[in-house]
Amino acid sequence: MTKLWGGRFTKETNELVEKFTASITFDQKLALEDIEGSLAHVQMLGECGIIPMDDVEIIKQGLLSIEQKIINEEVQFSVEDEDIHMNIERLLIEEVGPVGGKLHTGRSRNDQVATDMHLYLRKQTSELIELVKQVQNALLLQSKENIETIMPGYTHLQRAQPIIFSHHLLAYFWMFERDKERLIDSLKRINWSPLGAGALAGTTFPIDRNRSAELLGFDTVYPNSLDAVSDRDFILEFLSIASIMMIHISRISEELVIWSSQEYQFVELDDSFCTGSSIMPQKKNPDVPELLRGKTGRVYGNLIGLLTVLKGLPLAYNKDMQEDKEGMLDTVETLNGSLRLLAPMIETMMVNKEQMYAAVTNDYSNATDIADYLVTKGLPFRQAHEIIGKIVLYAIQHKKYLLDLSLVEYQSFNPLFEEDIFKVLQPKHVVEARNSFGGTSTEQVKQQIVLAEGKLS
Ligand code: ARG
Repeated sequence: MTKLWGGRFTKETNELVEKFTASITFDQKLALEDIEGSLAHVQMLGECGIIPMDDVEIIKQGLLSIEQKIINEEVQFSVEDEDIHMNIERLLIEEVGPVGGKLHTGRSRNDQVATDMHLYLRKQTSELIELVKQVQNALLLQSKENIETIMPGYTHLQRAQPIIFSHHLLAYFWMFERDKERLIDSLKRINWSPLGAGALAGTTFPIDRNRSAELLGFDTVYPNSLDAVSDRDFILEFLSIASIMMIHISRISEELVIWSSQEYQFVELDDSFCTGSSIMPQKKNPDVPELLRGKTGRVYGNLIGLLTVLKGLPLAYNKDMQEDKEGMLDTVETLNGSLRLLAPMIETMMVNKEQMYAAVTNDYSNATDIADYLVTKGLPFRQAHEIIGKIVLYAIQHKKYLLDLSLVEYQSFNPLFEEDIFKVLQPKHVVEARNSFGGTSTEQVKQQIVLAEGKLS
């Protein structure tokens, strides 16, 4: 098969080189975006009088017919044609004859590939935004179900202070809210059109870049042709956002793994999101959250990979840049699949409210409240902290919890203690007392839910 660029060559391409340099095995995922870009480009060429409108119509019909064949999976792409751009151009020429060769007037694969990737990421980002909303929605639903559910809050994975389970879930809601905002914000930069930048320096034809940008729904055009074909920072930005989002996915997944362990039994994941063991019949493994946690690695890898590819590249296009695609495609797929699973897994999990409550009655997480109690009675906090430390030590040594000590015992540490200390130590009281804005009291959590609902409407 002769190459579309074969004119200057006297020898066939080495077979290994052909395979090594081809991107068609992965960039065929950009086929529909490539056609979308070509449709806009050829329409603009016609409107600018660069090629006759009759030819424009023939080329457009040809492109639409190829698009249909691709959707129907009737097309065989070939490695000899290297990438999706040349494969489609070849198919077009086969479909409509030599007039198909006019499509590439005033354009290069360099602005073409950049255009395809902007179109692809724009579409995928919009879909991801919707999927993040589904995760937020699942968190919100569980939050509403668990306003009364008290659980231990942790620092250092040691019981710290009791909190409401909704409060814990809503913490993730806000992380995903910022992720969503980051995605939305990135659309501003994704929505620049590189089309018409040519290979690097623009073109001799009187093209109208604003027109093709308009046809493709871009907000603006790159004002510099070198930048247009060299920029991959819109992809880096996406990979960075994805990496941050994977941290959030991974952290909640880790908590689900811990919470569903025998040791905690705070939640039970629905059977449909767990798998069994091939040897141990009793096992119900939280494979899904484990794998979500594990998928984080490849997303970070994709970010570091592209950062490294681009570092130190001279302007403008270099073949290195073909390495931008697999990581981007893989990240889109990973993130999309992860969010799709996370939402229903959260929504269907069973929350073991009794077990969570039992945990807070068997710990010392109300100790801060005794300190605060003495502070309201006039003692400086540092001094109160010291006294309560001694009380906790005493209680541990006598195998008692703070609610089990008698008033006489309390008063032996400080005479300011009175009968009301036992009310203050109840988990419910401990939670409700934290009524500062953004705190864990039911009043604050209810307010948070209203705010969260506002973000989703
Ligand atoms: N397949 C190439 C890529 O993805 C398209 C651009 C090729 N341009 C070139 N001058 N070789 O980067």
